[in-house]
Amino acid sequence: MEVVIVKDAKAGGELIAGAIVDLLARKPDALLGVATGSTPLPIYDALVAQVNAGAVDASKARICQLDEYVGLPAGHPESYRATVLRQVVEPLGLPESQFMGPDGSAEDVQAACDAYDEALAAAGGVDLQILGIGTDGHIGFNEPCSSLASRTRIKTLIEQTRIDNARFFDNDIDQVPHHVITQGIGTILDARHLVLLATGEGKAEAVAQTVEGPVSSLVPASALQLHRHATVVVDEAAASKLK
Ligand code: F6R
Repeated sequence: MEVVIVKDAKAGGELIAGAIVDLLARKPDALLGVATGSTPLPIYDALVAQVNAGAVDASKARICQLDEYVGLPAGHPESYRATVLRQVVEPLGLPESQFMGPDGSAEDVQAACDAYDEALAAAGGVDLQILGIGTDGHIGFNEPCSSLASRTRIKTLIEQTRIDNARFFDNDIDQVPHHVITQGIGTILDARHLVLLATGEGKAEAVAQTVEGPVSSLVPASALQLHRHATVVVDEAAASKLK
């Protein structure tokens, strides 16, 4: 695992956007896995800026989701599909046909999860997966105690994550779904390059456990230690508990 300490979130975003530009230069139709939440926004801003400045032709890039809420009505603005469309797919000028995600409104949720794992494999696998990290060490929506071999599946959100995400639902926790579909840790580890960005002091303990702690399902992000090409980009605040 490679750890890169940068000055701030903007520098982290620019660094990772640069890695994506390099990837697209080598492989124009690369499949880019994207996370949602606040942390990756500087990556998407920097990527769109670099592409608009002509750094690379991103028109063939393919985008896929890491996770999705279960049960939100189709088109709900806080569904992760709508969020990724708004934050990544549309700003890059990509057609929806180059975007894939699990169906959070499917009647048979497990069948939708299996279909998504199959679709990712059929697409050739994820070339670069962007990850954020929860304060409890979760990646995607793999909360502590998730199997390190897990595949895409339905999960129940712990109360703290629903509280954390209430900010996207008018600060009303009752509007936050209880269930999600998430790529499993095993699914995430299938990506060819994992890039985790963590910023701010609130992530420092989770980062220290991820990088320096034992590999444990209690800290799902520690599974990155098992991957042959994992990059953890942290700002100085998130790095503050590293030895
Ligand atoms: C969401 C996801 C989550 C977030 C994590 C951190 O797609 O993958 O694991 O990355 O909850 O969220 P923020 O960045 O908002 O602190």
